[in-house]
Amino acid sequence: MQPGSLVLLSGNANRPLADAIARHLHIHLCEATVGTFSDGEIRVQIHDNVRGADVFVIQSTSAPVNHHLMELLIIIDALRRASVQRITAVIPYFGYARQEKKTAGREPISAKLVANLMTTAGAVRVLTIDLTARAIEGFFDIPVDHLRAGPLLADHLRRQLPAARTAIVAPDEGAVDRASRFQERFGTQSKFAIILKHRPSPDVSEVRGMIGDVKGRACILVDDIVSTGSTLIQAADILMEQGATEVYAAATHAVLSQGAAERIQDSVITNLIVTDTIAIPAEKHFPKLTVLSVAPLLAQAIDRIETNRSISELFV
Ligand code: R5P
Repeated sequence: MQPGSLVLLSGNANRPLADAIARHLHIHLCEATVGTFSDGEIRVQIHDNVRGADVFVIQSTSAPVNHHLMELLIIIDALRRASVQRITAVIPYFGYARQEKKTAGREPISAKLVANLMTTAGAVRVLTIDLTARAIEGFFDIPVDHLRAGPLLADHLRRQLPAARTAIVAPDEGAVDRASRFQERFGTQSKFAIILKHRPSPDVSEVRGMIGDVKGRACILVDDIVSTGSTLIQAADILMEQGATEVYAAATHAVLSQGAAERIQDSVITNLIVTDTIAIPAEKHFPKLTVLSVAPLLAQAIDRIETNRSISELFV
């Protein structure tokens, strides 16, 4: 292998996305066994010679989160011991991002612990998409290339909805920056609104009201994650009550926990647009769901990292 040759290796979290990235880069995925021993411990063996290679490991830390995280760490360890030149952890969906600060006494900062684990294992760079909190970038003492799926989602929706008859809506206060960047890309003739959300406990959300006027407009809710679906469904209900003509929702990461697909299909939401940062099994697909692929975006980013070109130019 030539020193610095590009190698792509995938864990089991999202093999279809890894295959698609490899196709865009016109290379094959590295041959490796990523399985388990009979007791469930993860077993990894890399079959190709990777000495001196510039390796990108593709693995979302999606459910089952602990298993996929350990796969990633153990793959990185195997690569480091196989004398690769550089290891980039490509984490399209970064799990364990929810506890990124202490909000009460005796809580962990799990996102920082996970960042430490990745660096200790041997990753020297991270490539990720739409971290739930930007501050997580700073938890790594290695470079983090943080991509945004907003432009992909906005470009898809602006082909369907005229900006002058649309309102972009942040489904909670934390989503305002994301929704406002979305609006810049989608069209500034659109209106802007904010839903006021309260979380009495994890995985439970309550809508307290909204700021902005959406009467007579189609609305687009913009969020990073759709998990139980409750944030988007409750926001869509209040938007319809306030006179919206229809409600679309765009979210980067389709966590889609138990029952979310059915709840969203039965809701007032017209169409939920997500990306494939997390693999969506057939049973979680539903008629109102549209999935856009981040494979071209990740392939371009990998190509730019490999050739030392700017990543931010991808978003101009
Ligand atoms: C923060 O709350 C996030 O940005 C999302 O709004 C949240 O993860 C969505 O969760 P759910 O679909 O369970 O309401």
